Amino acid sequence: MLKEIDAIKKSFEAESKQIDSIDQLTSIRDKYLSRKRGLLTQLWKEFQGIPAEQRSEVGRRLGQLKIEVEDRLERMKDELDRQQLNARITSETVDFTLPGNRRAVGHLHPVTQVRHQIEDIFCAMGYSIEDGPEIETTYYNFEALNIPEHHPARDAQDTFYVSDSLVLRTHTSPVQIRTMERQKPPLRIICPGRCYRGDNPDATHSPVFHQIEGLAVDEGITFGDFKGTLEYFLKAFFSEKTRVRFRPSYFQFTEPSAEVDISCIFCSGRGCRVCKMSGWIEVLGAGMVDPAVFAYVNYDPEKYTGFAFGVGIERLALIKYSVNNIQHFFENDLRFLEQF
Ligand code: DAH
Repeated sequence: MLKEIDAIKKSFEAESKQIDSIDQLTSIRDKYLSRKRGLLTQLWKEFQGIPAEQRSEVGRRLGQLKIEVEDRLERMKDELDRQQLNARITSETVDFTLPGNRRAVGHLHPVTQVRHQIEDIFCAMGYSIEDGPEIETTYYNFEALNIPEHHPARDAQDTFYVSDSLVLRTHTSPVQIRTMERQKPPLRIICPGRCYRGDNPDATHSPVFHQIEGLAVDEGITFGDFKGTLEYFLKAFFSEKTRVRFRPSYFQFTEPSAEVDISCIFCSGRGCRVCKMSGWIEVLGAGMVDPAVFAYVNYDPEKYTGFAFGVGIERLALIKYSVNNIQHFFENDLRFLEQF
């Protein structure tokens, strides 16, 4: 029996040296200590049957061995746990000096930015902002702007009809009428918004685009006020050096009408490809409000005069930021948008 105890002690010492994982440790613990088949457990069973005179010596040795085995396994488990923890600590370290993940922060679309710039300039001059529907009646889109049915001017703007009497508004001018119906002069308003025309998309046309309409009505408003206001606006928007030119034109709702040009911002008026060597770039349509329009909103044309203008927001953005294709504003390619 004592020999057996020695043999088991030796084999345990040899095997326990090999242990390098918790799995191995568990299987060796089972081999020696498991309640049913453990080698030491079996020795205890044999111990029951040995002669009384050997008992104390064998019992002592056996008890010692059990304590040794348990002790050794316990220490090894502690050591393995510690190693495992150390390995985790080194592999899972966090380097607080690493740069963080950048969050993509968005910003306003360039068309919105330009709209805000225009609004700021006019609001500082005392204009307020008005709004109107994008689905508009033919009355407001055409008729009240002095464009009667069957007039060729209705075809000039390729109109999307929703029904016989409803259209997607082709310009922001109908908001003039809606506002004048609601308010009495004096009136200074701008109306930004989306417009629609059945144009084929190309570098300068888009079936959806944005305009800002402007309208000032009061007693005694003159052509000088009109010129001064638009000149002030265009210099504030482009630059103080910008020169402004008014060319006679024709719109149904203004009389006289003008198209307004700025000196080419690319060549300062010397002539280049953008201004087609003319030195000027057309930026908006405008004029003194036609008395016929006042009649539609019951303003007394003997008492009141006013001016109006309509400007394409994308058009101003294209010029200001020298973008060569209006489609960029609608494709929403981040590589383009991120530049603003
Ligand atoms: N509504 C015109 C257009 O879309 C632009 C315009 C011209 C507006 C003259 C006006 C104006 O208010 O007076 O082409």
